[in-house]
Amino acid sequence: MRDRQTDEYDKKVDELRTKIKGLDQLKVRDDVFDEYTLLGLYKLLSRGWITAMAGPISTGKEANVYQAYRDETTVAVKIYLTRTANFKKMQDYITADRRFINIGKTRRDIIFAWTRKEFSNLKRAEKAGILVPHPLVFDRNVLVMEFLGDKNGAFPQLRLAEFEDTQAVYDEIIEDIRILWNKAKLVHGDLSEYNILYGNGHPYLIDMGQAVTLDHPHAPGFLKRDLEQLNRFFNEQCITREVSDILEELCGSPP
Ligand SMILES: Nc1ncnc2c1ncn2[C@@H]1O[C@H](COP(=O)(O)OP(=O)(O)OP(=O)(O)O)[C@@H](O)[C@H]1O
Ligand SMILES: [Mg+2]
Repeated sequence: MRDRQTDEYDKKVDELRTKIKGLDQLKVRDDVFDEYTLLGLYKLLSRGWITAMAGPISTGKEANVYQAYRDETTVAVKIYLTRTANFKKMQDYITADRRFINIGKTRRDIIFAWTRKEFSNLKRAEKAGILVPHPLVFDRNVLVMEFLGDKNGAFPQLRLAEFEDTQAVYDEIIEDIRILWNKAKLVHGDLSEYNILYGNGHPYLIDMGQAVTLDHPHAPGFLKRDLEQLNRFFNEQCITREVSDILEELCGSPP
């Protein structure tokens, strides 16, 4: 039975829908802007982190990424989908991470923690000196970060990019993986030609929600998989390094 409180809540959510500038023009699946997302967006809006939403850059199963504005600046807004994200997988990754104990067990708790985890991973990676989108703020399942792109739009994923010097790009990514391990004490965990953007002559690592700290039991295994994925993509295009050599250098022994 609907009570007065529920009605008032629904009214507030409806109000938010009309208040968030640009939202009504986004023709995306309805469930993207569920009540949590709307509340998160509204909070970021009222604090001035977002002034208006623009079009989607990417729509997927785990998250949608939108272009948005903070006054004159373009920002990227990543919204984790509370209904379709692979919550089981997120749970497996997050429960072994010491930074995220006592986060609660509901789907919502896990997805909010995942958003916080991506924010924190991006911060660590940036602090270590790696090119990633600068993380600005997060609320609930919404993460606001630097927009990687220029006047022509978002930078392309590695798989769609044209390089001037392929070897230099590969070497730079290997160096990023090293810095991530040695300085940030992180492993990306889902590195591929989809999760690296290419712009200004450099690769940028993105999508760091699943990145784990080195004390995670699967950290060496994830590192191995990241290196294999990278070599698979670059093998035909430039000289690649032996995965086992890098593993030995970073982990001491192959996982
Ligand atoms: N900061 C950014 N600036 C520009 N484009 C971005 C930014 N972040 C993400 N994108 C674009 O959005 C795409 C999806 O982002 P991301 O990889 O972080 O999400 P995802 O978790 O893979 O989502 P899904 O798995 O549901 O597709 C990227 O491949 C990239 O094209
Ligand atoms: Mg991705």
